[in-house]
Amino acid sequence: MKEELSILVQAQYPLIYLVTSEEERAEQAIATIAQMRPQRRVFVWTVTQGMVEFGQPRSVQHNTVSPQAAIEWAMNRQQRDPQRDSSIFIFKDLHPFFNDPQTTRWLRDAIASFKGTQKSIILMSPVQTIPIELEKEVVVLDFPLPDMAELNQVLTQQLEQGGRGRKVSTEAREKLLRAALGLTKDEAEKVYRKAQVTAGRLTEAEVDIVLSEKKQIIRRNGILEYIEEDETIDAVGGLEELKKWLMQRSNAFTERAREYGLPQPKGMLILGVPGCGKSLIAKTTSRLWGLPLLRLDMGRVYDGSMVGRSEANLRNALKTAESISPAILFIDELDKAFAGSAGSADSDGGTSSRIFGSFLTWMQEKTSPVFVMATANRVERLPGEFLRKGRFDEIFFVDLPNAEERQEIFKIHLTKRRRDVARFDLDQLAKVSDGFSGAEIEQALVAAMYEAFAQEREFTQLDIIAAIKATQPLSRTMTEQVTALRDWARQRARPAAASVAEYQRMEF
Ligand SMILES: Nc1ncnc2c1ncn2[C@@H]1O[C@H](COP(=O)(O)OP(=O)(O)OP(=O)(O)O)[C@@H](O)[C@H]1O
Ligand SMILES: [Mg+2]
Repeated sequence: MKEELSILVQAQYPLIYLVTSEEERAEQAIATIAQMRPQRRVFVWTVTQGMVEFGQPRSVQHNTVSPQAAIEWAMNRQQRDPQRDSSIFIFKDLHPFFNDPQTTRWLRDAIASFKGTQKSIILMSPVQTIPIELEKEVVVLDFPLPDMAELNQVLTQQLEQGGRGRKVSTEAREKLLRAALGLTKDEAEKVYRKAQVTAGRLTEAEVDIVLSEKKQIIRRNGILEYIEEDETIDAVGGLEELKKWLMQRSNAFTERAREYGLPQPKGMLILGVPGCGKSLIAKTTSRLWGLPLLRLDMGRVYDGSMVGRSEANLRNALKTAESISPAILFIDELDKAFAGSAGSADSDGGTSSRIFGSFLTWMQEKTSPVFVMATANRVERLPGEFLRKGRFDEIFFVDLPNAEERQEIFKIHLTKRRRDVARFDLDQLAKVSDGFSGAEIEQALVAAMYEAFAQEREFTQLDIIAAIKATQPLSRTMTEQVTALRDWARQRARPAAASVAEYQRMEF
């Protein structure tokens, strides 16, 4: 990605939009690129200082504080100084001035005048807002978060400052670096420093401190959430086909799998009836695969406070996920996240369809090992693009559990509450709970426990049966919706439970 910036700069793209909040790092990177042949001078504009040559703090150019004056200055430089016709002009935070028609016009004039020269303008800003006038002229680039090599510099510096413990083993070093992936340079610096201050050293034992700091930082940005699930895949009853699929791919992100020639899995969509374990199985996959699970909260991506804010949020979240990869990006309730975005009525000035578009493009083009795990239960609200073949590796349908699976779910939840399963007639429980989802089974069990607990006794088979009888399962109150979903899924999705597969084979 950094190479991409280098290529764009060297190929003399006249206008590059660099999205980043790490100004210093980005400036450094540009300055390094400018050192390469052909060498170029770098000027930096801010509204507070005007145009200043990079690395020459006293070289303030007078009367260049206003955006127009600065752009004009950049444009005219060539006439006065024809040999040095190759400067790079970085404009920091020019985006608030795009409302002014003069700014965009000056920019267009400047770009036009750059033809045949080696000058370029780089717009640097934490948000991406491109005025329509410039859309065709600009190349947008996300400045990537630091990679292992850059983090290594940060770590080395920190170790040197710490004095002691400089001899860190290669493995420990790698673990410390990996733990900080996904952070900006400043954040990584702080995290290492904090770990060092807390423990008095930086060794493999401090990896956990670094990790937990990182989790907090990621949580603070509010869009991604680092989820730690204690349950294993054994806590999910039934869904044998889906489990098999997931287990087969446990090592799909290893070097070995690449050498073998396997493609990287892209993602999966789990559709199904509410309360049947979709979210649960998605969360347990993290442990199964040994990969971090990042939940993307689409509700928080949307932010109408500023134009381009939502897009920036999404970009940042995806950028973080990519830098932590291999990782699982968990989007629960995809149907709610993108409801109506592909639809016609746009109440938010097109933001949701733009977000949806950027997300699809990202999914399409991503090469980093980020596995998208999405769940949904309202197919009709899901934009059709998601269902198209090839977008996800597989679309699974999770149906209501059959009798055998219900037995298994009872067993799981009884065991979880430290009860002896042998005391209960699972066969009977499964029979009376026909049409119940996993969540409803769990709720009935808990209700039975409350009942008995209030009477200060242990709960029995009869308490559970009574609780089941008192429950109206969703499949009965919303029969139509459930049937419609099943009919739809039968043709388009792969059944998550083996039993459904048999049932399907009988149907067709
Ligand atoms: N197959 C199952 N095995 C064991 N427990 C289950 C199963 N399905 C549901 N449960 C229990 O019900 C709870 C809720 O299930 P979960 O949140 O995974 O459902 P969901 O399919 O994501 O529903 P929704 O569509 O409403 O989001 C789980 O945390 C679990 O305790
Ligand atoms: Mg769910």
